[in-house]
Amino acid sequence: VKKTVVAPTNIAFVKYWGKHPTFERYHVPNKSSASFTVEGLFTKTTIEVKEGNREVEFILNGKEITPEMKEAKYVYAFLDKVEERYPFIKNYDYKVVSENNFPTAAGFASSASGFAAFARCLVEVLPEFEEIRTNDRAISILARLGSGSATRSIPRDGGVVIWRRGIAPDEANIDVESAINSSYAETLYKPEEVGEIRIIYVKVEQKEKKVKSRAGMKTSVQTCPLYWEWIKHDETKLLPSILDALKNKNWELFFKLVMEASNGLHAICHYTYPPIFYLNDTSKEIISTIHEINNNAGKEICSYTFDAGPNAVIFTTEEHADEVAGSVASIVGEESIFITKVGKGPKVDNEHLF
Ligand code: DP6
Repeated sequence: VKKTVVAPTNIAFVKYWGKHPTFERYHVPNKSSASFTVEGLFTKTTIEVKEGNREVEFILNGKEITPEMKEAKYVYAFLDKVEERYPFIKNYDYKVVSENNFPTAAGFASSASGFAAFARCLVEVLPEFEEIRTNDRAISILARLGSGSATRSIPRDGGVVIWRRGIAPDEANIDVESAINSSYAETLYKPEEVGEIRIIYVKVEQKEKKVKSRAGMKTSVQTCPLYWEWIKHDETKLLPSILDALKNKNWELFFKLVMEASNGLHAICHYTYPPIFYLNDTSKEIISTIHEINNNAGKEICSYTFDAGPNAVIFTTEEHADEVAGSVASIVGEESIFITKVGKGPKVDNEHLF
């Protein structure tokens, strides 16, 4: 049997950074996060299975990934965790062919679309998964075992997605299965409901990131003196306000809070020991330019957000997209920007039409 799934990436405007101390292995997050599902940036994954004993042939972006290569580490760790919960996966051999339509590990989280496509495709291809095939909540939990941010790329309606943290970080007296199942993603608003939003991807650097998110967030949890204060602030104040701004289409407030959320993440990174710096001079120039545009407009008409790398993602509305894109292009060049919208979630491609 062979199936193909195309899964989009997502860009968080309330960030995920740090795993529950007791359930770290299962990527249960310390706080909830929220994202836009991104149209046009995706991973396409084909999985072919036959009876066997969990041998995996993995081809990523045209390159064979052997078990000892670093790219294989996350994939095998993912399958181990899936097998703990669904032992039948060991009775098959897999050929996995995965391709991103954008650069891997350039700060454009490809682990999000990568593990989303992988998890969804696994559920489509193995007959024993039939009972969870239409259950996005269960699939989002499965994808999370690969990579936290992949959780948010699972809901098929896409749009604005919330990844609920589930149990609180200080709750440890709970069985593993309940802890694992407490945290999942769901669509809050469909893409049409935020149809006027434009998302501008700004490539600042191609290079692979120096400190991967997985290692970086672990160090932040362990060493950042303000980490738990930040978690509490985002969970109880920032997230509710930002969702409220979205609901009311108060873009001015939404854009302002998006920048605060990104700045919060990077402040936590700076206050990690040793400090983690993801932004470079070009990133900072983009930050200044966005604030300048907003100052000139007399209100927030656009915002930036940064993940674990120097590349920027800008949000604005359709009305201001050309102006904002033009200003950013004058820094990085036209060829380094990609303008898109909020899109739908994963799709199964039985006909191999993509
Ligand atoms: C900064 O999902 O890559 O992009 O769960 O360890 O695989 P793991 O981490 P990952 O972390 C993403 C962090 C972020 C913020 C976000 O996407 O919410």
